[in-house]
Amino acid sequence: MNSYVLKVNGKSVTVNAEEDTPLLWVLRDELKLVGTKFGCGIAQCGACTVHLDGIASRSCVLPVSNCEDFEITTIEGLSNDGTHPVQEAWKTIDVPQCGYCQAGQMMTASSFLKQNPNPNAEEIREAMHGNICRCASYNRIEKAVALAAKKMS
Ligand code: FES
Ligand code: FES
Repeated sequence: MNSYVLKVNGKSVTVNAEEDTPLLWVLRDELKLVGTKFGCGIAQCGACTVHLDGIASRSCVLPVSNCEDFEITTIEGLSNDGTHPVQEAWKTIDVPQCGYCQAGQMMTASSFLKQNPNPNAEEIREAMHGNICRCASYNRIEKAVALAAKKMS
């Protein structure tokens, strides 16, 4: 067991873990940030998406020992009060069905919009296609990303 200092949602935290423990386990089990979900565990579904220095990253396959040098942001840290434009757009469009995939969807969307603030429909589809939604909320997700882009422009 080793000790790691992580920067999570603007705070410095010390955690004890094996070096190959996935960041997702640390976020959920040690730090109780349970908004980030476990889906597949093999980087295939996007449920576990968080930001590392603003880049959407799959925390189920990231060893905690590789994460000390990054600003980690989870859905809990995307905004203080749920008013990030992506969160607002998600509410306006009423995107979630069961909700399980949605934190990962919003983290992917918010990272994408930082890199491409004025995307077309094809670019939105391409950016979001790796995030699986078993409830098939894909049309609403794409509409919400477009709406968030408008709010941010
Ligand atoms: S749980 Fe990480 S990509 Fe599916
Ligand atoms: S809303 Fe149910 S898995 Fe996406």
